Amino acid sequence: LIEDLSFDADPGHTVAIVGPTGAGKTTLVNLVMRFYELNSGKIMLDNRDITDLSRADLRSKVGMVLQDAWLFGGSIMENIRYGRLDATDEEVIAAAKATFVDRFVRALPDGYDTIIDEEGTNVSAGEKQLITIARAFVANPSLLILDEATSSVDTRTELLVQQAMAALRSDRTSFVIAHRLSTIRDADTILVMESGRIVEQGNHEHLLGTQGAYYRLYQSQFAGPAEDVDANPDTAAVPAVAAGATVASDMAPEAKEETE
Ligand SMILES: Nc1ncnc2c1ncn2[C@@H]1O[C@H](COP(=O)(O)OP(=O)(O)O)[C@@H](O)[C@H]1O
Ligand SMILES: [Mg+2]
Repeated sequence: LIEDLSFDADPGHTVAIVGPTGAGKTTLVNLVMRFYELNSGKIMLDNRDITDLSRADLRSKVGMVLQDAWLFGGSIMENIRYGRLDATDEEVIAAAKATFVDRFVRALPDGYDTIIDEEGTNVSAGEKQLITIARAFVANPSLLILDEATSSVDTRTELLVQQAMAALRSDRTSFVIAHRLSTIRDADTILVMESGRIVEQGNHEHLLGTQGAYYRLYQSQFAGPAEDVDANPDTAAVPAVAAGATVASDMAPEAKEETE
């Protein structure tokens, strides 16, 4: 599935991975987590081959936030503490404050004791995602993987989720996979994947300048028809100028080829 792939992620840097569905982005993070083993090549973490670490050891260093928030039937306090079982109430609440969970939890009649029911009907999809971000925050991992973490979130909470993820990412080596290029333009390195290969890598300005795959992906999201302009009222008014082209807004409709 993946061939001739090589890159470095510097400590504390954000590496964004973009590319069409099926390009191998999730496979790449699954390899880092050792959900699959490599047939050849190697992955080093702090100068150690990850196969020299136990899976439990490796995974304890990595925090993941995925497309679908996973919460269990328990209180909000318990769901956040699941990130690190010996965290005190104060540490859980500090994590909740840093990730915008505290404000909506305080508005609930039972606060942190609110039980997340099986259907999760008492909190919105965006709030559930914020809780999983708080959970990763309390775990304080050295490596962070965010795979399509805003994809199933309503546009109302998307901005909050993005801000919470930014708080979570700070000073942490992070891999961010996102359809919306607006969420990854500040990444230190952007890897553009197609069919299991990295076809381009560099930062946002560099990749726009080369007018290759990233540029085309960017154009398809930002310079497209105005049909999606009202999709995200929170950010639609922010103007942006890139590579000599004035784009309509900082709001990114889903890339056409990525619509599943
Ligand atoms: N467990 C698996 N076994 C076989 N093929 C898989 C498996 N998981 C993913 N694939 C295939 O690998 C390719 C890359 O998938 P994936 O990494 O999920 O892409 P992306 O995250 O970029 O959308 C796709 O063609 C997908 O169908
Ligand atoms: Mg994927």
